[in-house]
Amino acid sequence: MPQQPAGDKILILDFGSQYTQVIARRVRECQVYSEIVPYHTKASAIAKLKPSGIILSGGPASVYAPKAPQVDRKIYDLGIPVLGICYGMQLIAHGLGGKVERSTEREYGPGKLKGDAKCALFHKLPATLDVWNSHGDKITKLPTGFRPLGKTENSPHAVIGDTKRNIYGLQFHPEVVHTPRGGEILANFVHRICGCKSNWTMESFIDRTCREIQEQVGDGRVILGLSGGVDSSVAAALLHKAIGDRLTCIFVDNGLLRANERAAVEKLFAGEFRIRMKTVDASKQFLTKLKGVTDPEKKRKIIGNEFIKVFEAAAKDLKKTDPGHYRFLAQGTLYPDVIESVSISGNPAALIKSHHNVGGLPERMKFELVEPLRQLFKDEVRRVGAELGLSKEIVHRQPFPGPGLAVRIIGAITAERLRIVREADAIVIEEMRASDWYYKVWQSFAVLLPVRSVGVMGDERTYDYTIALRIVSSHDGMTADWVRMPQEILARISARVINEVKGVNRVCYDISSKPPATIEWE
Ligand code: XMP
Repeated sequence: MPQQPAGDKILILDFGSQYTQVIARRVRECQVYSEIVPYHTKASAIAKLKPSGIILSGGPASVYAPKAPQVDRKIYDLGIPVLGICYGMQLIAHGLGGKVERSTEREYGPGKLKGDAKCALFHKLPATLDVWNSHGDKITKLPTGFRPLGKTENSPHAVIGDTKRNIYGLQFHPEVVHTPRGGEILANFVHRICGCKSNWTMESFIDRTCREIQEQVGDGRVILGLSGGVDSSVAAALLHKAIGDRLTCIFVDNGLLRANERAAVEKLFAGEFRIRMKTVDASKQFLTKLKGVTDPEKKRKIIGNEFIKVFEAAAKDLKKTDPGHYRFLAQGTLYPDVIESVSISGNPAALIKSHHNVGGLPERMKFELVEPLRQLFKDEVRRVGAELGLSKEIVHRQPFPGPGLAVRIIGAITAERLRIVREADAIVIEEMRASDWYYKVWQSFAVLLPVRSVGVMGDERTYDYTIALRIVSSHDGMTADWVRMPQEILARISARVINEVKGVNRVCYDISSKPPATIEWE
């Protein structure tokens, strides 16, 4: 397999910013390989990795805080270009003899940047740029060799640099969408200052990840919870490519699946792909545990717990028939799942790397996790899936949450409520497909509200449930907006749900964006 050429690599030192992965993503968008390492990685270890550039991420600390994460200052002597973002910039200024002071006012939100046109960071960019700030400290004295290369209304040192040593600092966040041309600033750093070529592709991601999986797993066996959704399907295909029959997929029928889901997943994975697969019908077990539970977090925790129990039992069974050692559990965890699941408090640099709790996975878990997609965003996972030869049907499937229909039934889960939301969901999907809208939106689904209202059907009074219809657009699931659907389609879905699903007499359309709402209702 082709090795990543030395040199065409950007190393990102993580100081605990929630945006660290977004920086990595922006670098990947330049088709340059990037790797995230902890902030305390020694300069000697960094030198061994032979990066052609180093980015110091932002972070929530102040460089003067007692336990502020510090960088090994020898990195500035390696002769490798360095870019510090926000906290990373304060570190550069502080570490190289400048002065950083607490600002009386925290600068947060949009700003206008005037960059030095001669600076390589602003190559081919307009004189004034919209940028996004989020910091409390400011630089009052520049280190020797540095000069200002950009300013905002509030800061004469919004961009600083020592162009001889190729060390730069940005006070704002170029990686976030609120800095619309920020990707180009990073691209200028990566290509023009670090000299990286665009040679990183999804194909090279697949090769490298397969190698990493093989290294992690050795001759062990892996089980993977296959849900049939994009993430676990792509993870399954990737693992299958890496370790073949040493992967066994477990498909759990938890009683919270969509109509026909089980048969479709079995046909595709066991049938077409010939992946080793075992279906466990645990619906009774799940539904018994969920009886009467109304709290959304409790539902998630229970489902996460039962999943693990089912996996552990399945792994035990597998061990009986197979001498291999099943100690690995693979998951299709993506980056947004990771950051939304960790608490951004205390020392986030440590927390962000700690065991997250996606879907309520219990800490006592007896598996070692294999998460080949945890640095990617959804659209990147889809590209990996397509590269692996998965069909559009799978790759562009709308996301479906791990806890299934449980989080689409507000309140207690009963057999009747499950039937209602399942039937309504099937109609929504059918109509979205028939009208060619299914692939145009991020998600479209039905939520059952525990509210009954009065209606009239024929000559009879009804007192039935309400279905909320949620159709959203999104780029990566982190933010979303409700879709302005053609009224005829909404009308058809509403009419069909009310006419065909017994127990429903009202359909509402959810017109909330994320934030402040979330996509799922629970
Ligand atoms: P929210 O509701 O947090 O959802 O705005 C963002 C995206 O994530 C999906 N989602 C989940 N996916 N396990 C998953 O695999 C989960 O527990 C889970 N909860 C939400 C959701 O459908 C949306 O696309």
